[in-house]
Amino acid sequence: MRAVDIIIKKRDGQELTKAEIEYFIKGFASGEIPDYQASAWAMAVLFKGMNLREITDLTLAMAASGQMIDLSEVVPIALDKHSTGGVGDKTTLVVEPLVAACGLPVGKMSGRGLGFSGGTLDKMESIPGFRTDLTIEEFIYQLRTVGLVLTGQSVDLAPADGKLYALRDVTGTVPSIPLIASSIMSKKIAAGAQAIVLDVKIGLGAFMENLDEGRTLAETMVSIASLAGRKAVALLSDMNQPLGCAVGNVLEVKEAIDTLQGRGPADFKEHCLTIAAHMLALGGRASSEEDGLALAVEALESGKAWDYFRILVDVQEGDLDAIDYPEQLPKARWIETTPAPRSAYLAKVHARLVGETAVMLGAGRTKKGDPIDPAVGVVVHHKVGDWVQGGQPLFTIHASDALQMGEARRTLLEAHSWSDKPVQPLPLFYEVIRS
Ligand code: URA
Repeated sequence: MRAVDIIIKKRDGQELTKAEIEYFIKGFASGEIPDYQASAWAMAVLFKGMNLREITDLTLAMAASGQMIDLSEVVPIALDKHSTGGVGDKTTLVVEPLVAACGLPVGKMSGRGLGFSGGTLDKMESIPGFRTDLTIEEFIYQLRTVGLVLTGQSVDLAPADGKLYALRDVTGTVPSIPLIASSIMSKKIAAGAQAIVLDVKIGLGAFMENLDEGRTLAETMVSIASLAGRKAVALLSDMNQPLGCAVGNVLEVKEAIDTLQGRGPADFKEHCLTIAAHMLALGGRASSEEDGLALAVEALESGKAWDYFRILVDVQEGDLDAIDYPEQLPKARWIETTPAPRSAYLAKVHARLVGETAVMLGAGRTKKGDPIDPAVGVVVHHKVGDWVQGGQPLFTIHASDALQMGEARRTLLEAHSWSDKPVQPLPLFYEVIRS
């Protein structure tokens, strides 16, 4: 076989065989197939697409390019969740302890933020001492003994995806549903997941801006799971406005703590309870989502989920004082609240602009490896549909550099749009996709 023939075949819109896909991915992972051929191939896939069989073969080939974790002897069912990423999405921080508190072990390998979208690891690392670099052996041991793990993606898992993603990032080949779906699912499968709840974000602050694209991505991932012998369910959720109020690492940890302690924004709490309910049903702990929801509400209201969050932080060497007294977490030097410029209904809180402002303040990175400032970010005080009285607090900026305030304020005012007529609140979820 020759790499060039496989590229030509895909360029001409033909279906690749399993053997061709495996040959290409193996050759690329080992370095025999150079980056320029892999880039051309990724572009051909972007333009010509792949059918479900090809996407599943690609997923499995990338999963098999590194270590494959087998959790079948570790937990009754290896349960995982994945969010396609958004602004203010601190769901994992609440949902993982919530599900574990209901008696279902959860082990999760998470990623860092890139661009306007935040990452779970960056958030957890704003808790002093919290380790996100567990070895695979430590991951397995903690999952077996504690039933709750949250760490970084091991570089030994699906390395072909890591290499391909870096290439896609600089060759304009990220927005391809076959490549996104196989990238996400290869990591989940390599990490040993047997049941996966996928939170596919749709809207201005998400990868997928429209519902049709999001639905296709969700259906593709759910089908891959099923062809690969895994269970999956996908929820299409709104990401036009930030989830909850806080955007920025420490700010989001505080909001997650508030939520685990029974406070927290209503939208974020409901989002977490719904995701947890689906995880409990998919993992067999609940007989239905309704049943799962009742269990999750009980775990949250009884304080059990908060206890599990403390256990997670403690076992991964994080500073318990910092979460028990979150005012001890790093604080930005400059904090300024901007009032609403008028009395009206809130028509839009543009999630991407809010996310980009947080990145500009230093909460995120524009390229891999950039340092981040845990303390900075934005808190929005209202949701789409709210009636806001002129002069009421609209948003609060947390900055380490006073010179950034003006630009942040301008962009955030632009992110909010107004209507004199009542505006429907945005839904939290659009659809549920099952296999
Ligand atoms: N997240 C991934 O892991 N891979 C993609 O291709 C896109 C988002």
